[in-house]
Amino acid sequence: MTRNIIITGGAGFIGSHLVRLLVNKYPDYHIINVDKLTYAGNLANLSDIENYPNYTFVKADICDYDRMLEVMKMYKVDAVIHLAAESHVDRSITDPFTFARTNVMGTLTLLQAARIYWESLPEKYEGKRFHHVSTDEVYGALELTDPDGVESPFTTAASSEHHHAYGRDFFVETTKYNPHSPYSAAKASSDHFVRAYHDTYGMPVVVTNCSNNYGPYQFPEKFIPLFINNIRLHRPLPVYGRGENVRDWLYVEDHARALDLVFHKGKDADTYNIGGFNEWKNIDIVRLLVRTVDRLLGNPEGYSDSLVTFVTDRAGHDLRYAIDSRKIYRELGWEPSLQFEEGLEKTVRWYLENQQWVDDVTSGDYQKYYESMYSGR
Ligand code: NAD
Ligand code: DAU
Repeated sequence: MTRNIIITGGAGFIGSHLVRLLVNKYPDYHIINVDKLTYAGNLANLSDIENYPNYTFVKADICDYDRMLEVMKMYKVDAVIHLAAESHVDRSITDPFTFARTNVMGTLTLLQAARIYWESLPEKYEGKRFHHVSTDEVYGALELTDPDGVESPFTTAASSEHHHAYGRDFFVETTKYNPHSPYSAAKASSDHFVRAYHDTYGMPVVVTNCSNNYGPYQFPEKFIPLFINNIRLHRPLPVYGRGENVRDWLYVEDHARALDLVFHKGKDADTYNIGGFNEWKNIDIVRLLVRTVDRLLGNPEGYSDSLVTFVTDRAGHDLRYAIDSRKIYRELGWEPSLQFEEGLEKTVRWYLENQQWVDDVTSGDYQKYYESMYSGR
């Protein structure tokens, strides 16, 4: 079946993996990547597929209503998979307005353009879908307690050497929203608008809420690529607080596969949580990264240990995220394909082998941001 699908934010980290997956897997689909190319968007992420006949790039701002409507009409768009967002929590603390603009108003603008276009067609919403890509951060934060209760259903353990849970509570699809950062508050608001467009106008929608992703092409302001790059440059590793915060990590290609499944098979107006059953304290990831990067660079064991620096904590720092992924496993048969140590080594190798990409994306304005973030912290 031919389908014309807009992917917003396709030049970013997760978006570029999703664009690559769909362009390769579905030659009959036309994938239209709509991206503003902020500091986080980079067309080099897609250089391998940029000339494919079923791929088009449109540089545009999702907050520009006329442009969004024009793109919908021009490409006879059947579906939207919406990833474009401001995504970095630290930036949302210093610049909340930009997050409200893109994440809330941008999502609303896109919903309205899709609604006006789809309602103008004879078949209306038939065969249409708006898939909103969201985050587990909308649910708030969990306590660290004795692990108990939810067992991973996955056929492979998340990690070869590590216990996967740091508490008895997990985020499920019905967990009440309780966002704490301007980033998660804006994402929560966008989720509500998507569901409101279903309930009010009958738009076919689906929402996914995923845990922390890692892998190639992640902008090196985020924890894992920032630390890989700092170890390589022998710079301090700024661990917030005591490094006790827990995140549930998932390899980005596994997220992209989950999005493909939910987009095609997820139930209308439903929500699917996506996560790795793979919780790690930040400090344990730092130790693993130091060991892995030193080994791959041929440094003596322990060479970079002294780079670990405990700095002032992030304001409102959520203690623990943990996703219960049993619904997507049970209903759609999805599970992660990689163990964490395997995925992390693959990621470290990619960053060490793609130094030019790292240098390109971290030159210019990013240097100023880096200095303002970490000087005097
Ligand atoms: P990213 O910051 O790497 O990429 C965001 C992309 O959106 C960039 O290409 C950027 O240019 C584009 N963009 C930003 N503002 C835009 C605008 N106004 N108009 C058009 N394009 C714009 O983000 P990511 O980490 O790939 O996250 C993608 C989505 O997935 C986001 O919605 C995020 O909330 C969600 N998510 C991310 C994670 C994670 O761990 N990174 C986990 C769960 C959910
Ligand atoms: O849970 C999903 C979310 O994961 C996504 O919605 C966000 O877009 C994505 O950025 C990510 O948010 P986090 O805040 O969890 O990711 P970040 O990489 O910024 O930080 C991961 C952990 O590492 C967090 O506990 C803060 C800590 N950290 C981060 C940085 C950048 C440090 O200790 N030092 C740092 O310098």
